Order: sequence, then structure tokens, then C-alpha cells
Amino acid sequence: MNIKTIATKLLFKLPKPILSSLMKSIPKAEKKNTETPWHLKGNWAPVKEELIVDNLEVKGEIPKELNGMYVRNGMNPVSGWSDHWFFGNGMLHGINIKDGKASYKNKYVKTPYYEKDMDMMEGSFDLQASPANTHVVRHAGKILTLEEAHLPWLVDENLDTLGVHDFNGKLDTPMTAHPRICPETGELLLFGYQMMTKPYLTYHRVSAEGELVQSEVIDIPRPVMMHDWNITRNYVIFMDLPLVFDIEQAASGSDPFGFRPECGARLGIMPRNGSNKDVKWVEINPCFVFHPMNAYEEENKIILHVCRQNKAMVGGMDEIYGGDETTGKLWKWTINLKSGSCVEEQIDDRSCDFARIDDRKIGLKAKNGYTMEIDEKADSLTFGNHLYKFDLEKNQRIDHNLGKNIIGGEPAFAPKSSISSEDEGWVMSIVYDKDLDKSKLVIIDTQNFNKEAIAEIMLPERVPFGAHGNWMAN
Ligand SMILES: [Fe+2]
Repeated sequence: MNIKTIATKLLFKLPKPILSSLMKSIPKAEKKNTETPWHLKGNWAPVKEELIVDNLEVKGEIPKELNGMYVRNGMNPVSGWSDHWFFGNGMLHGINIKDGKASYKNKYVKTPYYEKDMDMMEGSFDLQASPANTHVVRHAGKILTLEEAHLPWLVDENLDTLGVHDFNGKLDTPMTAHPRICPETGELLLFGYQMMTKPYLTYHRVSAEGELVQSEVIDIPRPVMMHDWNITRNYVIFMDLPLVFDIEQAASGSDPFGFRPECGARLGIMPRNGSNKDVKWVEINPCFVFHPMNAYEEENKIILHVCRQNKAMVGGMDEIYGGDETTGKLWKWTINLKSGSCVEEQIDDRSCDFARIDDRKIGLKAKNGYTMEIDEKADSLTFGNHLYKFDLEKNQRIDHNLGKNIIGGEPAFAPKSSISSEDEGWVMSIVYDKDLDKSKLVIIDTQNFNKEAIAEIMLPERVPFGAHGNWMAN
């Protein structure tokens, strides 16, 4: 260990408020005369205006049952620059739908990260300074905007920022951007991971009423990127995968992340009201998963469907994807709870990610799952022009071709009604039309998934490729 690493380790032991002040005092990186990175080019480039536009043009017919708002979050650096795709300011794009008509608005999440135009290091030790750019979730009457290294920020139904949300002071770790709402209990289950200070992983359980009722530190041997996870009716499942934060690399000025298969990969299964001592760790082959699709219990087994990559970020932090080895394919993992073993099977060979199901089936046996195509031949993260529907019982895939030069976004499911089956509903996605340089919200009938969208809502400006969103029915 060299002197620089020792100094860095000592630095990270300073109290967080002091570290935060130190980070904010570092001069910003020179941004001029730098080649535009992939995450700021083409439809990754930010849009400049916040708009409110009513009576959008609609091709086809919006189902009369759809009454609510589709909201999607994504990175939109307010200065026009961000050091990395992960660190652009969060902008929400909301499409309100009622009586077959649609309106659009887009608004920044106005956190200190936005107000002070911070960059990646400035906000790293201030839990409130969130880019709030990854997901948007409604629970207990609140709309939470999320990014995995900070606290959530609340917005109202007009997408105006209300303030930081720390569950009445009880949440003292970052919150994942991928919490899960149990459809049976209404609980919000979540974890927080951090890389530069311990604890590296903490589990939290929030009641259906929105009160944080349980927090448990979970031991993992080293800090890893843990983007998402899984729940079932009785368990949560952590993914300790070998995308490792390496303080020595960070101290030397090189990439802080490394894919280290020699560290092994494990799934941690814990009863939902359990604690660290109850976690059963199951070894799996080294891999990385940004997004699982779903998990459920069957007899003495837990079955997970995941978008599994052989490797991750092998070319460093800038290379989120980049080739076949680092793009997800649909896999099925079957954990035997008695033997503590896991059978791993590849279900499909198409590169895809951003997996979703009907959220009313989270943690339960879902029949259908949806993903977006990822171009595994591209050098950097490139969305494809297909959405995929998987029949998880028959292991069959149905393709929805968005059309020539139409590039996809995450598919989100909207049910026909609160009591309809998961076969009755629509998949929504904000897609980008390269020829028009504009975006549209497509609404696809899940029972005719390979047919044309039944409605296309033409948006007034392009919506940059982003992250995750949800249908919020009224
Ligand atoms: Fe994600």
C-alpha cells in the first residue's frame, strides 16, 4: 500500500460533513476543449427547456381506461455537461392521460445538486445532494425521485420539487433507485449501499403507511456496486456481485471500479423481517446484473429471472456496456433453499435490459416480463429498436419492432384496471424517432405485442434517453 492510498483511506475516515465540504472545495474539472462523451451526444444530449404542452397529437387511439400519468426520469445536466452519464441532473418527463387526451411536462428535480450545479465528487458525501436522476416511484401517497447514492427527493403531481425525504430522520444511508413495493402488504422494501465508508450495505423496510420500521446492517466483504435487487413474498435477495470499488485504484487516479471475478459472486437470501445473522449466502458464477426482472418462491425454491452479463465495466466506469460480454441476456436462477445451491440457465440469447413486469406481481409468480433491446455490437450503451415480451412459463419471446430508426426506452406496464389480469393491459415506453429528432410515448397492447402500437403520443420535443419510469394510475 503506498502513501497515497494510506492518505486516501485516512481521508475517508473524516466526518462526513468535513468530507463533504472538502469535496465541494475542489475546483471543477476543466470542461472545455474536451471531446464530447457518448452520454452527451445525439439523443443522450440534454434538452434545455422545461415545457408544459396540452392536447398532444395522438396517432391511433389512447385506451379510455388509461387515466393517470406516465413519468420517466433521466439524466439531463443543467450546465450541458456531466462527467459521466450517472451524474447528470434528474429531469422528469410526465405524460398525463385522461379521456383519450394527453399533455406533457418536463421538470428538473431541484435538489442542491441542481441548484449548485454540482459535479460527481461535490455531492458524494452529502446525502441530500442527489442528482435524483434514476427512477421515480409512488408509495404511500408520495412520489419519490431516486438515485442510488443519496436520499430520495419528493415531487408533487405537477412534478414540482417538494424536498428531501429521510423518513422523519430514520433513513441515514443512501437509498437504492430500485426499491420494491410488495403488492400484498404494501410495504416499500429497500437497501442502501455505499462504497467509501462502512456500512457497505444496509436493509430498510418501510410500512404501507410510509413509516421506516426496520433497518439492518448487512455484512459484505467489500464495497460493490449493487444497483438493484429482488424480493419475494417472504424474502429479500441481495446481489453481491464482483463489480468492486477499489480504493487503491481510486487513490491512484485510475478507475474506481473493477470487475473482479476472483472475488466471487453471491446471492444473499434474508427473511423480510430478518437481520444479518439470518442471511443465507448462495454462491453463483461471477457475473453482473444491473436489473433483475422478478423473483418468486415455489416450494423450497426461489426463482429469479435476471438480465445477466458475463462481465461489467471491464473498460472502466465510462464503459457501462460495450460488447456482447457486457450486455444482459435473460437468465433464470433457481435457488434450492435446502441445499443452498443455485441452478443457472440462460433463457434467451437476445441482448436486453431494463426488465419490468406488471408491478402487481412483484415477488410473486409473474407470467409475463418485458425488456428493451440493447445493441451488443455498439461501443457504448446503445438502446435497440425492439421491445421484448417474455412468457416466463413457456420461455418464449415475442418481439415488438418499434420501426426503422425508432429507438426504445424502458417498457413499463399499465394494467387495464386494478383487478384485471396481467394479460390485460399495455406496455408504455418513450421512444426516439431519429428521422424526426423527436420522441413519442408508444402504447402497445400486451396481447398483440408483435403488432403496431395502438397509440403513439407525439411529444413536443425529444426526450433524451434516460433511465426508469412508472405508470401512476389516478
Ligand atoms: Fe436501474
